[in-house]
Amino acid sequence: MKALILVGGYGTRLRPLTLSAPKPLVEFANQAMVMHQIQALAKVGVSEVVLAVNYQPNTMRDFLAREQEKLGIKITTSQENEPMGTAGPIKLAEEHLNDGEPFFVLNSDVTCTFPFQQMLEFHKKAGAEGTLLVTKVEEPSAFGVVVYDADGRINRFVEKPKMFVGNRINAGIYLLSPSVFARIPLKPTSIEKEVFPAIAVDGNLFCMELDGFWADVGKPKDFITGTGAYLKHLRNVEPHRLRSGPEFFGNVLVDPSATIGLGCRIGPDVVIGPDCVVENGVCLKRVTMLPRSKVRSHSWVCDSIVGWDSVVGEWVRMESTSVLGEDVTIKSEVYLNGAVVLPHKSVGEDIPEPKIVM
Ligand code: GDD
Ligand code: MG
Repeated sequence: MKALILVGGYGTRLRPLTLSAPKPLVEFANQAMVMHQIQALAKVGVSEVVLAVNYQPNTMRDFLAREQEKLGIKITTSQENEPMGTAGPIKLAEEHLNDGEPFFVLNSDVTCTFPFQQMLEFHKKAGAEGTLLVTKVEEPSAFGVVVYDADGRINRFVEKPKMFVGNRINAGIYLLSPSVFARIPLKPTSIEKEVFPAIAVDGNLFCMELDGFWADVGKPKDFITGTGAYLKHLRNVEPHRLRSGPEFFGNVLVDPSATIGLGCRIGPDVVIGPDCVVENGVCLKRVTMLPRSKVRSHSWVCDSIVGWDSVVGEWVRMESTSVLGEDVTIKSEVYLNGAVVLPHKSVGEDIPEPKIVM
């Protein structure tokens, strides 16, 4: 069984992190985003994963070479010369993907419980050409909205509707039968606007409702809330991986190589990466600390992401989706409110209003 992950683009919405690492390699809950997906695919017997990319930095090539050895799954890349949209890359990779069996297609910026086994069973039972995973959201206008019957047959697929169509949305995870290849031309094509509506008209597009959490983590704000949803899920399935003790509140994931000082107050929804340092008396809430970053004594960090190798000085207050790129220094006693700081910068003055520091 094969799978394709749509990785294209420069991940501009996740800057400044994506200035230092391609989006799929940014650690979400201490693991490269794309590895969450690849591991779940490997579990259901997928033998080859094709990453559809627009550009391919060496960091990505090296990383994938190492990971494919660890997991015993083949990871290849299919590179486009021009952005091929969300369907074009499937046609471009037909040679790798088409073994006569249904294959998975995933958007790279979504995370959930990945119920691939249930999708396989559903797809077969429904005799579907395409099976989409759907989930419910409060604000559907930024997504692909689906309208379907009780048996899951999709009547309408509307991408980014301007008017309310429904609140069940495309979760960005599909199982497609090989007949779909014939529906896609070898040119930039949108699966949401061109391919799905056509399969729906033929009555062969189905959906399966997702049971459990789902998040699109392609933007800092959603990355932070998505981390909370992921940790809540972890609490249910692998609670032993979360930290407990008088200094920890709610769901907190700490890499064993990180060091944490005395008298801290950590949580809820905090991820502390490998080789991170948290000094004494620090308070962290809804924060991801990427590998090797440091928060010094008595700082208060909330709703923020601290980039790789960055240092937050003493008595700093940082909040409201502040994001530090790689190797940033925040001097002592500074206040950051929604500050987005580009890599290798040093900030010595307060940033009281949301701002990008270049
Ligand atoms: N290889 C390649 N080439 N990948 C691409 C290209 C391209 O030209 N354009 C987009 N992608 C990848 C993105 O990297 C992402 O993984 C996926 O295709 C979807 O693109 P986004 O830009 O993230 O789309 P979206 O979030 O606005 O909407 C999509 O995802 C929603 C769920 O999060 C749609 O599929 C919606 O229908 C869906 O609800
Ligand atoms: Mg997206």
